[in-house]
Amino acid sequence: MQTTPDHKLHVAIIMDGNGRWAEARGLPRPAGHQVGADTVRAIVRSAIARDIGALSLYAFSTYNWRRSEAEVAGMMALLRHFLLVEARQLRDANVRISILGRRDRLPLGLVKAIAAAERSTAACTGLHLRVAIDYSARDAILAAAAAGPEAIAAELGTEDVDFLIRTGGDQRLSDFMLWECAQAELYFTRVKWPDFGPAEFDTALAEYGTRVRSFGGNVEPVRAMAG
Ligand code: FPP
Repeated sequence: MQTTPDHKLHVAIIMDGNGRWAEARGLPRPAGHQVGADTVRAIVRSAIARDIGALSLYAFSTYNWRRSEAEVAGMMALLRHFLLVEARQLRDANVRISILGRRDRLPLGLVKAIAAAERSTAACTGLHLRVAIDYSARDAILAAAAAGPEAIAAELGTEDVDFLIRTGGDQRLSDFMLWECAQAELYFTRVKWPDFGPAEFDTALAEYGTRVRSFGGNVEPVRAMAG
């Protein structure tokens, strides 16, 4: 399943620690998200350079609405800005952008930016960048189940995650891609997202390369990465 030599990795990242990164520097929490967006740019470029097949990023969960109005508004504006500014460069880099999650509660400007970014990169065949916004894995599973078995196969069954990274020190999944992570290797680091650069990404990928993936069997386990 995930182990043929030409299989390209699907990496998922729970980008945590922006707020604490900012607070530790006496900065307002949105400053952490701003620097976190720069980290997103750098890691996307690393993922392209490393020929990763898909990169799924948890940008905003359904639970994040509980944050202050100002912080939520800042995050929505940042996501819109990212999509508007980056979509062209990402298209030029052959990156296909998809957004996961609900759209009906998002500001109209963000909904439009999502539609434009998805449309302009739809034909790209390189890295598949999936950004989860107003996302809950349980909601996604329930929605697919309600839509029928074909929807489960189409929306959940084709995107198995190989490697899940969580920054910021916590060791939990926080309702991110529960279905797709059924056989994922998990990696937790204390490094906060704004400090998670290409070197930390390489360290994580090297660790993935040492994992032996048996997929529940005990015959001929497969090294996660050849070489
Ligand atoms: C977690 O930090 C981070 C988030 C919930 C948002 C992640 C968003 C970005 C990195 C901004 C841009 C994203 C894209 C795709 C451009 P936290 O605020 O929960 O940190 P804390 O645990 O230290 O409070």
